[in-house]
Formats: sequence, C-alpha cells, structure tokens
Amino acid sequence: MAKKIADYKDYVGETIKAFDEGRVLLVSHGKEGLPNVMAIGWGTVGIIWRKPMFVVLVRPSRHTYKLIEETGEFTVNIVTPQLKEVVQYCGTVSGRDHNKFKEKQLTAIPSKKVKTPIIKECILHFECRVVYKNDLIPSELEKSIIPALYPKGDFHLVYFGEILACQYES
Ligand SMILES: Cc1cc2nc3c(=O)[nH]c(=O)nc-3n(C[C@H](O)[C@H](O)[C@H](O)COP(=O)(O)O)c2cc1C
Repeated sequence: MAKKIADYKDYVGETIKAFDEGRVLLVSHGKEGLPNVMAIGWGTVGIIWRKPMFVVLVRPSRHTYKLIEETGEFTVNIVTPQLKEVVQYCGTVSGRDHNKFKEKQLTAIPSKKVKTPIIKECILHFECRVVYKNDLIPSELEKSIIPALYPKGDFHLVYFGEILACQYES
C-alpha cells in the first residue's frame, strides 16, 4: 500500500459519502509546528474562481481555528469505516489539552504542497491553502437553520481552501 497522487475530481463522490458516514478529519498546525486533528461533518468539494476548492466550516471556539488562522493551511483526511471511532474522539476533545495524534496512534507525514501534514493511516487526502474566508452572517441564513444548528449563536467561519494536491492510498 502506498500513497499516490490523484485527480481530486475522481474522489468527489467518495468524499461526500465520507462526510455522510462521519469519516472526515481536518489537520491544522500552528506556527509552533505541532499538528492537531479535529472531526469535520460539513464540507464540500467543487470549482470556484477557476480553482479546485475544498470548503470547510470551523467554529472560532475550536483550537483548529486558531491554528488555521496562523498558517492559512489545512489538510482534509478520510478514514476507513474501521477508524470511525477515531473521528468521534477527535471531534470530542480539543488539541488545547490533548495530543490527539499521540492518543490515537496517528502518524503525521509530510504533505506534497503544504506544510500542514496528512495522516498516514487515512486513505484519501486533500492539501489546501486558504484563498478566502468569511464569517457566517446570521441575518443572511435561512431562518429555520439557526435554532436547529446554532442555538448558542456560535456561528462558523467558512474557509475556502484551494486544493493543491490530492493523494489516495492504493
Ligand atoms: C462527526 C463530527 C463532526 C464535526 N464537524 C465539525 C465541523 O464541521 N466544524 C466544527 O467546527 N466542529 C465540528 N465538530 C466538532 C469538533 O470536531 C470538536 O469540537 C473538536 O473537539 C475540536 O477540536 P480542536 O479544539 O482540537 O480543534 C464535529 C464533531 C464530530 C464528532
């Protein structure tokens, strides 16, 4: 088994399916260099500004938010169904007080195009550089979404990451 450079367009369906199944991890690393990993449940892949783009939503309360703000990069990593428990863990505790890579025996390995690492144990990887970000504007959001998904008013920041590389485990 080895990581191979892939065309992101061939993996859009697999990525959406992984979101649906709770199998997506986002890695960031701050200026101190230590990588952190969190679960993401929402995101999408497409073409914007003639660039391949991965859009993710991160609440400013996450440690990940601070790290992405420091470097302007992130990687998205998809796990196999066997590692879903790891996603739950990484979506429950914070990198502020946990080394999730160590606690879950995850291995950070170098990316091809960004400084933020990818996760060796994952099967699909997207390396992204932030080209645009925006606060979610509550007054512009469809009304029923707010009480259902933002009862505490902790609105996401939306990051648009240009996909600079995609790798697949084959
Ligand atoms: C399945 C799942 C999906 C999640 N999706 C998101 C998401 O898309 N955006 C977000 O901000 N938090 C999401 N979370 C919550 C974060 O992963 C969680 O708060 C995590 O502990 C943050 O870690 P950090 O503080 O190290 O960044 C999700 C949690 C789970 C379990």
